[in-house]
Amino acid sequence: MDKRVFWDLSYGVYITTTMDKERPTGCVTNSAMQITSEPATMAVSVNHDNYTNKCIAESGKFAVCICSEKTQPLTIGTFGFRSGRDSDKFEDIAYEMKEGLPIVRDNINGYVVCEVIKTMETETHTVFLGKVIESERYDCKAKPMTYAYYHDVIKGRAPKNAPTYLDPEKVKD
Ligand SMILES: Cc1cc2nc3c(=O)[nH]c(=O)nc-3n(C[C@H](O)[C@H](O)[C@H](O)COP(=O)(O)O)c2cc1C
Repeated sequence: MDKRVFWDLSYGVYITTTMDKERPTGCVTNSAMQITSEPATMAVSVNHDNYTNKCIAESGKFAVCICSEKTQPLTIGTFGFRSGRDSDKFEDIAYEMKEGLPIVRDNINGYVVCEVIKTMETETHTVFLGKVIESERYDCKAKPMTYAYYHDVIKGRAPKNAPTYLDPEKVKD
């Protein structure tokens, strides 16, 4: 198997948010995608070890905030490399509540709020399928951030819990 072929799949970069009871939380995802149009549904794949997984499962809701090319690397660092288990990720992030979920306010292209209608378990990740209950497109001057832009321009990397992570030892086995 040549797992380098996965490098040619295209993705965006998102902040998938949810609630930890009364406290907003979430994590960076590249795996969010639209599944159907009418009725609108979206799915996202979240690692079992991510605190966000437990919080989505318990609250039954998630929101996908679409990062733009102007989304601050600090925001991606906060949501993509720290855990809401031991930190308040929204402490220094401007956000507003929509349908009971936190939406990052600055430098995003828009958001989609979903209610979980199905889950699928894999060995490492849960795929949450959500029915869209609210969405908004912002007049953001910057383009949506692609995963290629994140890697090539921002020089970002994927941590172990991202579905795209490849163990350098096992890239070709
Ligand atoms: C660019 C990027 C893409 C990521 N994509 C995913 C993803 O699709 N699913 C996932 O479970 N984790 C993904 N991650 C990893 C989580 O964001 C990371 O493990 C985070 O610290 C989990 O935080 P939590 O414990 O508060 O949920 C990604 C991280 C980055 C930087």
